[in-house]
Amino acid sequence: MNPITNPFSPGAGTPPPELTGRQTILNKANIMFQRLKAGRSEKSFLLVGLRGVGKTVLLNEIHRIAIASGYKSILVEAHEKKSLPALLLPSLRELLFQLDRMENLSEKVKRSFRVLKSFLNGIKLKVHDVEISLDNDPEIGTADSGDLESDLPTLLESIAEAASDRKTAVAIIIDELQYLSENEMSALIMAIHRIAQKKLPLALVGAGLPQLVGLTGRSKSYAERLFDFPKIGPLEESDAIEALKGPANAQGVEITESALNEIMRQTQGYPYFLQEWGYQAWNLAEVSPIDLPTILLATKESLHRLDESFFRVRFDRLTPREKEYLHALAILGDGAQRSGSIAEKLNVKPQAVAPIRNNLIKKGMIYSPSYGDTDFTVPLFGDFMKRIMPVGPTLG
Ligand SMILES: Nc1ncnc2c1ncn2[C@@H]1O[C@H](COP(=O)(O)OP(=O)(O)O)[C@@H](O)[C@H]1O
Ligand SMILES: [Mg+2]
Repeated sequence: MNPITNPFSPGAGTPPPELTGRQTILNKANIMFQRLKAGRSEKSFLLVGLRGVGKTVLLNEIHRIAIASGYKSILVEAHEKKSLPALLLPSLRELLFQLDRMENLSEKVKRSFRVLKSFLNGIKLKVHDVEISLDNDPEIGTADSGDLESDLPTLLESIAEAASDRKTAVAIIIDELQYLSENEMSALIMAIHRIAQKKLPLALVGAGLPQLVGLTGRSKSYAERLFDFPKIGPLEESDAIEALKGPANAQGVEITESALNEIMRQTQGYPYFLQEWGYQAWNLAEVSPIDLPTILLATKESLHRLDESFFRVRFDRLTPREKEYLHALAILGDGAQRSGSIAEKLNVKPQAVAPIRNNLIKKGMIYSPSYGDTDFTVPLFGDFMKRIMPVGPTLG
């Protein structure tokens, strides 16, 4: 079929032609925004799920809902090598400028600028990747201790008060939250705790890999009372089918039932893979309906493309020993494996590979679904490891 009109959109954060199966989360966001803005209490939430399930796409949608609900909203993505202040401050400063531009003068907004300046002065000695500057005076003695856990809550509180004074509300949306350090996560949790107690209009929405849940728990044990952690998983079968049929039918193209069944079998309903298979099948099919033989070709093409990009970029960031570890995890079979069995496969003691395992968790490659268990954060990554390392030596 004509590749120019191909509706499918595999890619990190690429909006799908039809966002199926996520209405509950979007409703939840909407209710939270309305409630917080009206001065009612509501838990913030952090989306948790594997790579490619659609977390970034959801955060973009939630950002839009926030703005449509009259919020000043910022959306940022955490990185392994970037500090939380460096991540947040440019957007927070921009947000304060937005609040400042509204109607007449607000003393609360002016104060928040001073607190931001103090915060900058304090934090500059600790982190060196903050690149913004402000030319107003600081509020000396406020938020300038250099201790993130005490300064960040003060800063965010002042911003929430400024927003409240402006009869508006603030949404802070952070992707890839698993990359925060414990100290940063702890500071963020304490800030949200304080803001919730004062019923100020500031919402936090985040997303991250499953290790995010453990990170928040270790940072502050009361985090679980403060946040919901909605699980974002593969799509239910009916939603997955709709994600394929909807966009195709909209252009008068049908997909046969056996073709759909085969896509379900290959993709297991994971959104990224649904888009990839849909995309390849569309280009390969000569005429409607898209049938089973076309899907068999599409599978070859899709796996090839995934191996070259989605899987490959992650594989290339691994050290040789990390590759061996993941290979051992892969050949033990699908699903979570005991960490002890992985070490055994590598002919070493579990303690010997504990640092490798920890690094892989930090890099976001694996996680621990339950104590002592290990699994991939990227669906179907085990099959890829077996393709790319058909025979693997063991660690010695
Ligand atoms: N609900 C959905 N229905 C269909 N496709 C989706 C859905 N959510 C996401 N996708 C597709 O899945 C892919 C991955 O989405 P992304 O948000 O980057 O995932 P994540 O951030 O969880 O890794 C994108 O190509 C996107 O178009
Ligand atoms: Mg993402």
